Amino acid sequence: MDQSRTPLFDALRAHAAARPIPFHIPGHKCGAGMDDVFRRFVGDDVLSIDLINIAPLDDVHQPHGCIQEALTLAAEAFGAAHTFFCVQGTSGAIQTMILAVCRPGDKIIVPRNVHKSVMSAIIFSGARPIFLSPVVDPTYGIAHGVTTSAVRTALALHPDAKAVLVINPTYFGVCAHLSDIVAIAHAHGVPVLVDEAHGAHIHFHEQLPCSAMEAGADMAACSIHKLGGSMTQSSMLHVRGDIVDPRRVQTILSMLTTTSTSYVLLASLDAARRQLALYGRDMAQKSLDLAAYARARIACIPHVHVLDPEIGSSEALHAFDPTKLTIHVRLLGKTGFDVETMLREQYGIEVEMSDMVNILCLITAGDTRAHIDALVDALTAIAAMPRGDIPPIEVKNPAIPTLAMTPRDAFYAPREPIPLARAAGRIIAEFIMVYPPGIPILLPGEVITQENIDYIAEQSRIGLPVQGLEDPTHEMVNVIVQQRPIGS
Ligand SMILES: Cc1ncc(COP(=O)(O)O)c(C=O)c1O
Repeated sequence: MDQSRTPLFDALRAHAAARPIPFHIPGHKCGAGMDDVFRRFVGDDVLSIDLINIAPLDDVHQPHGCIQEALTLAAEAFGAAHTFFCVQGTSGAIQTMILAVCRPGDKIIVPRNVHKSVMSAIIFSGARPIFLSPVVDPTYGIAHGVTTSAVRTALALHPDAKAVLVINPTYFGVCAHLSDIVAIAHAHGVPVLVDEAHGAHIHFHEQLPCSAMEAGADMAACSIHKLGGSMTQSSMLHVRGDIVDPRRVQTILSMLTTTSTSYVLLASLDAARRQLALYGRDMAQKSLDLAAYARARIACIPHVHVLDPEIGSSEALHAFDPTKLTIHVRLLGKTGFDVETMLREQYGIEVEMSDMVNILCLITAGDTRAHIDALVDALTAIAAMPRGDIPPIEVKNPAIPTLAMTPRDAFYAPREPIPLARAAGRIIAEFIMVYPPGIPILLPGEVITQENIDYIAEQSRIGLPVQGLEDPTHEMVNVIVQQRPIGS
């Protein structure tokens, strides 16, 4: 196929150039009826293609024209049999994957360190999660992938599971042995769903980890907007193989998607696919080179380290995406959040996220050596500041809580607010997480422990963005009134 084409983007531009008189939404009518300051700021071009699913522009809910052509090109570029465009972010694509294969009561095998969208879908579908513990890095305090043997054991114990979900790669760039996991799951006739939110670029360079589609996975939710060059909120959902029915996927995706899909976002997916297909390898090479340069320079900063896992040292460390710089600042006697704040306030630098002991910086083809130098110079200056007598921060990882009820049962059970500080032993009825990364510390149905309460208090105390509880002060938590064991 001719990957230099952009059928949807071209159709939009042709439509805008023809200037038909629009008696349809959006009511701003290509910007003419819009706030002038905003209009002049964003520019007329983008407003001229802020259109809607009128006949010449096809419809993502039932594609047959220029959108279908764009989807077919995307499927070829990513090695999928079918690709869907998603304007609800990868959260929407993940929810579609799970709802496409799980009915109420079905089991799904998932790592515990999943993004909140996975758990939302588990609540929506009524599926029962079978959690796998991720391997945790004791130094960096971050969760990696799950091991092949953990998946094998889970499938032996739960052969009736309807899906296995894997994160490829994690936020921090670590990948499990996905093709082995796929082989094991397929031997049981179970589909593998991949959260590829942080891997839009990996398909395009042989030195990057294997993509979900290359590994033979059945579905992959891929944040093209994160690392693939499209606009924020636009993602793709790839499907291949015989286990998952693409028509069911389309139906579920349509159920979860606005009827007023943004054509600006859809067109940006079309254009990003072209760029990745034509130049993805060169762009990935540039990111790899810049990341190698950054790693070499950061290695010279005293007391600062960058995650560089020993690939192959454990089943969970099968492959690594080095364009993700997890910079460990614990030995500076500062939290990751402190360093994030100093970089913002004193050096004009914004990182992707921070946690207790790390900051995460993502390197892409949009970066330059000057960007890296600015980061390294700032970190060097921070490292040279007097440390005082603050002891190095301790890396803490609370144990995975016990799941006493299905998340859906807990979410809909009668609930009562009680002080979080006194909630140990109660079953939580809502989520609590730090976002980013959005991995629940507690999710509906889990038994709250004192260790969880202390951990949450500490995350809040150092300023990390604790979210999820209905009470914005985080003092009260909703717990279920009656505690029922699973299956009763
Ligand atoms: C691992 C993971 N999965 C899924 C998502 C959801 O992606 P989106 O923000 O595109 O909805 C995120 C977002 O941060 C993520 O980190």
